Amino acid sequence: MERRRILLTKEEIDKRVKDLAREVSRKYAGEEVLVIGVLKGAWIFMADLVRAMDIEIECDFVRVASYGGRTETSGQVCLLYWPGIDFAGKKVLVVDDIVDTGLTSVFLRKRFLEEGAVSVEFCVLLDKPSRRKTDFKPDYVGFTIPDHFVVGYGMDFNERYRNLPHVEVYKE
Ligand code: IMP
Ligand code: MG
Repeated sequence: MERRRILLTKEEIDKRVKDLAREVSRKYAGEEVLVIGVLKGAWIFMADLVRAMDIEIECDFVRVASYGGRTETSGQVCLLYWPGIDFAGKKVLVVDDIVDTGLTSVFLRKRFLEEGAVSVEFCVLLDKPSRRKTDFKPDYVGFTIPDHFVVGYGMDFNERYRNLPHVEVYKE
């Protein structure tokens, strides 16, 4: 596989994910939380995060798409999978790989609240605040990064590179 610039090593990610898990566990200690992973990008991050959390949780997933083989969002969020569960009264913790424009996150927050969730928080591995088109602010952030298109640790370009153990820059 072609070598690109590594932005975050496996070791840096592992350490930070454990910090996030501790922070989230402290916040929700003694409460029920429904962890919702945003497919497909958050799959690996979520697997590591929930295994480092020491509270009881329920897990489910939603699937959205907005990129479609490009490194720029189309601006249109398509919902591809929605779980058949009751969100009424639930505290939802959304786990996502990266917040870019914030359009996906704003769309999801609205949907969870409409479905009756009492609270919705976002835990994201990466934040690219320089690209925001909304006033969205995630509640827990692993790393804040500059405006590069990145791949690895679940994140793809055209469905490739998700299995890299680190995060690397695909396009500067
Ligand atoms: P947003 O709606 O523009 O915030 O985009 C959110 C989604 O776009 C993320 O959850 C990712 O799946 C995808 N995305 C944004 N930036 C990148 C990137 O640099 N690499 C891979 N996927 C990205
Ligand atoms: Mg995503």
